[in-house]
Amino acid sequence: MAKGKTATIFFCQNCGHESTKWMGQCPACKEWNTFVEETVSKSAAKASGSGGGRVSSGQSADPCVLAQVMIQEESKLLTGIGELDRVLGGGIVQGSLTLVGGDPGIGKSTLLLQVCRNLAQSNHRVLYISGEESRVQIKMRADRIGDFTDQMLLLCETNLEDIEEVIRREKPEVVVIDSIQTMFNDNVSAAPGSVSQVRESTGVLLQLAKGLGVSVFIVGHVTKEGTVAGPRVLEHMVDTVLYFEGDRYASYRILRSVKNRFGSTNEIGVFEMREQGLTEVVNASEYMLTGRPENASGSVVACTMEGTRPLLIEIQALVCHSNFGIPRRQATGTDFNRVNLLMAVLEKRSGVQLAGCDAYVNITGGMKIMEPAIDLGIVLSILSSFRNQVLNPKLIAFGEVGLSGEVRGVSMAKQRVAEAQKMGFEICVLPWVNAKDIARGSAGDGKDNMQIIGVKTVQDAIDSLF
Ligand code: TYD
Ligand code: MG
Repeated sequence: MAKGKTATIFFCQNCGHESTKWMGQCPACKEWNTFVEETVSKSAAKASGSGGGRVSSGQSADPCVLAQVMIQEESKLLTGIGELDRVLGGGIVQGSLTLVGGDPGIGKSTLLLQVCRNLAQSNHRVLYISGEESRVQIKMRADRIGDFTDQMLLLCETNLEDIEEVIRREKPEVVVIDSIQTMFNDNVSAAPGSVSQVRESTGVLLQLAKGLGVSVFIVGHVTKEGTVAGPRVLEHMVDTVLYFEGDRYASYRILRSVKNRFGSTNEIGVFEMREQGLTEVVNASEYMLTGRPENASGSVVACTMEGTRPLLIEIQALVCHSNFGIPRRQATGTDFNRVNLLMAVLEKRSGVQLAGCDAYVNITGGMKIMEPAIDLGIVLSILSSFRNQVLNPKLIAFGEVGLSGEVRGVSMAKQRVAEAQKMGFEICVLPWVNAKDIARGSAGDGKDNMQIIGVKTVQDAIDSLF
């Protein structure tokens, strides 16, 4: 590379791929026209090169005996928001770096402001740094959320050197950076939000977090357009990555953990956006099933797992005769190709004449579910709509459907059945292998009021339900 103090590197603004020359198409993410030239100073390149460089926490480079490393359990801070604590793996770990990503306007700032409020109330010193909004704007949002104690400090700043200085002076326990795309480092000449700025800023925050033991939350906007570097380029540098998802038009929000060095991933937290900020949704299944139509054909409840949590969802299908040569198929909230495949299985293995039918499949509530365990639910809802036959509203189905029409076992069947029972369902159609397990375990634990129908094939399910 260049011999001087600075080098120019071309970064893909979409995925962060580096190149020494400009390219029309990114070889990594295949996006076109995303390369932008950025100047990186030697020191910056070093710091952000491989995952932020060595994490210096004051210790020398001596190896130690793993068995003798002590873990302090009590160092996890509770945020006071149960759903978030669970997603984080039991609370905020001291000195951790957490990325909270999501579309603009989804509620990232609101959630973190609520976290700050709770922490400040339990006498922890927190510092909320905003590069996006003015003090008055933040105050206006804070007023909707509630009262804040004196432990909550606010800073509107984008220069990372100043921020570093404030953190070292004020010594907060928790710092929120809202958002990483607005942060600016003098070492890097690129504009805020560019890949090299975002990486360099995260590198600085990483050093601060590990060095001083402050827990840092970084907000990152995910945008499809290449103008602002997506936080995906810094996923590998942080300890925990949380994504805030949800339909802009529905009020619920799902917080998903996609990487967690301190707990299980794929845990979700469910929230609802209200007038006074985000509230936890404790019973997510109930929330997802509200407003379910009664006596409607094509509606089936299935059970999916979100991490370790069972979640009941409603699948709706509408199958009607096509007026055109090529039938229309549409899937909302699940995989389109999967729906086509399941319809082909129904047609071939059970002789249901679907070839001339339009089909629309929808997971209600704006949820996106890719788990194969909802296959059986999709198949039953399609058939129910095709035959215009209403299925028992107290019925729930789950199971993966294979290409020969067999119903394959899924994981955590017991938890799914228990959730269905809790929600008042009475009939459960599930893979035969899982049914065997459940029958064995259910002897005395009061699951007798649930009728369990184990099926080996889709045809079995059709025979016992229609
Ligand atoms: P915000 O936290 O600003 O989103 P982000 O930081 O992810 O960009 O959330 C903004 C949205 O939330 C905004 O559209 C208004 C809504 N909102 C409420 O409905 N109720 C509330 O109490 C608050 C604070 C925001
Ligand atoms: Mg915001």
